[in-house]
Amino acid sequence: MKIEKKNMELIDLKNLLNYSERIKEKDVTFQKLMFFYKMAIKELETKIEIFKEEFKIFYDYDLIDHVNTRIKSPKSIVQKMKKKEYKLTYGNMIENINDIAGVRIICPLQKDIYSIKNLLQSIPGIETLKEKDYITKPKTSGYSAYHIILAVPVMLSSQMIYVKVEVQIRTMAMDFWSSLEHKMKYKPKEEPSKKKAKEWISCAKAINRLDEKMMLLNE
Ligand code: GTP
Ligand code: MG
Repeated sequence: MKIEKKNMELIDLKNLLNYSERIKEKDVTFQKLMFFYKMAIKELETKIEIFKEEFKIFYDYDLIDHVNTRIKSPKSIVQKMKKKEYKLTYGNMIENINDIAGVRIICPLQKDIYSIKNLLQSIPGIETLKEKDYITKPKTSGYSAYHIILAVPVMLSSQMIYVKVEVQIRTMAMDFWSSLEHKMKYKPKEEPSKKKAKEWISCAKAINRLDEKMMLLNE
């Protein structure tokens, strides 16, 4: 089979299908779309893995502790769209739901977060669509991390598709806090209390101080 690679088209995922077609969770269109998100994660994960190993082997430095990835379930995608009051179309889903593909990078020190972010943004072909620095400006909950929405190219046989991936970069300490806080927040029947929210903020601040101390110790 001869594949024509000349004039390789760059296509935004949302231009690939009927924008206003209504989402059906068990539809084949949904499954096909998820393929693109899975492949974008694979592309990015390999690149991150290369950075991780390169730093270990060539610079004797553990820049990245570990990487987690996940695809949002069709049920949570639909739930989120309903919550945000988007009309349930595939076009709207692709355009507005930025965390269908999620990659979380956990690193030892706060300064590593910025090195990783710069490395990701220097990859040829990958574009930054959005970024949020919750380290210099934590969320009101106390949540701290660096978030970037990247457009990752996925090369198919005759076209190149851009797919959005949400990358969260956190230190091990930030990850410890957010994993526990997330579990507590979504615990069924748990009443959200102001007192508890305050305690979580105070824990987040303590963790932030710890991260800063550890960074100084490493200098
Ligand atoms: P959403 O995806 O609707 O939340 O949009 P957004 O623009 O508010 O996204 P943002 O980048 O602020 O946060 C997205 C993700 O960060 C969430 O899905 C969580 O994984 C994580 N996150 C944000 N805030 C918190 C928080 O207060 N606690 C914890 N544990 N995680 C959080
Ligand atoms: Mg999310």
